[in-house]
Amino acid sequence: MNAPAVILDCDPGHDDFFAILLAQRFTELRGITTVVGNTSIQNATRNACIAADVCGFTGPIVAGSAWPLVGQPHYAEHIHGASGLDGPALPEIIRPATEGDAASFLLAEAGPDTWIVATGPLTNLALAMRSDPGLAGRVAGISIMGGSTSFGNVTPAAEFNIWHDPEAASIVFSSGAAIRMLGLNVTHTVLVDRGYTDRLAALGSSAGSFSSQLLGAYLNSYDRISGKPGSAPLHDPCALLAVSHPDLFGFVAAHVDVELDGELTRGMTVVDQRELADLESPNAQVAVTADGPQVLGLLYETIGAL
Ligand code: RIB
Ligand code: CA
Repeated sequence: MNAPAVILDCDPGHDDFFAILLAQRFTELRGITTVVGNTSIQNATRNACIAADVCGFTGPIVAGSAWPLVGQPHYAEHIHGASGLDGPALPEIIRPATEGDAASFLLAEAGPDTWIVATGPLTNLALAMRSDPGLAGRVAGISIMGGSTSFGNVTPAAEFNIWHDPEAASIVFSSGAAIRMLGLNVTHTVLVDRGYTDRLAALGSSAGSFSSQLLGAYLNSYDRISGKPGSAPLHDPCALLAVSHPDLFGFVAAHVDVELDGELTRGMTVVDQRELADLESPNAQVAVTADGPQVLGLLYETIGAL
């Protein structure tokens, strides 16, 4: 079966970095667009270039929005550090980013065969849809790492990618696009630990060593904030593999709204899982299970092949 065509919109970010490696191996990666979220747009774009150099992606890397639609950026430095990719010394980039703007790139390049995989805030997608609402119906689908059917991470109710730009998320979820939502309820079942980072280091390659150091730093961040130190959820690879390996996930059709006004719940994905006759029609396939060992196995195989 042909590899699916993908444009990856991301905010690297440690877990975004690994989504890029998986995209290069398992998809026809048509382009990478970057968005503010985990870190500044400048850092996210540089970090995407570093990931591209590591995995040999030579296609377009196009920077996008430096700000959410409303309000200020809020970088996740407590997880990803000041560089957005703390841990190892970061190499000079070999291939710089491409001129242009992410929203324009998405509108120009995302066609009927293309999946858009979004692993950061949905600002670029929303800007593109504001410019041309037809984008939603033109693409094969949109796979989103974001939201949750249960707990949040930035607040008890809201997950970071949605919380960082709820207005953008609301535009995307109400766009009519074919959406797959990979929320914290499943990504928190895909956990890396020190044994995994040791196995990566034992590969004896520069890619293995760099990846091991990145995940080691990522684990350190989670050890500092988590009530259950020793492991860390690997979020963004789930959204990419939901396109290349959908059988690793279980989905339910549900209506998803994004809370914009709640004092305690702004940025929450309100997923209607009631079993009633007259529910609002589903606007997303929401992941409720993930095969964590398989996700981690595919990533290990991908890094081992570099
Ligand atoms: O809440 C986790 C998500 O926010 C991940 O995509 C992570 O990279 C950050 O962007
Ligand atoms: Ca991300």
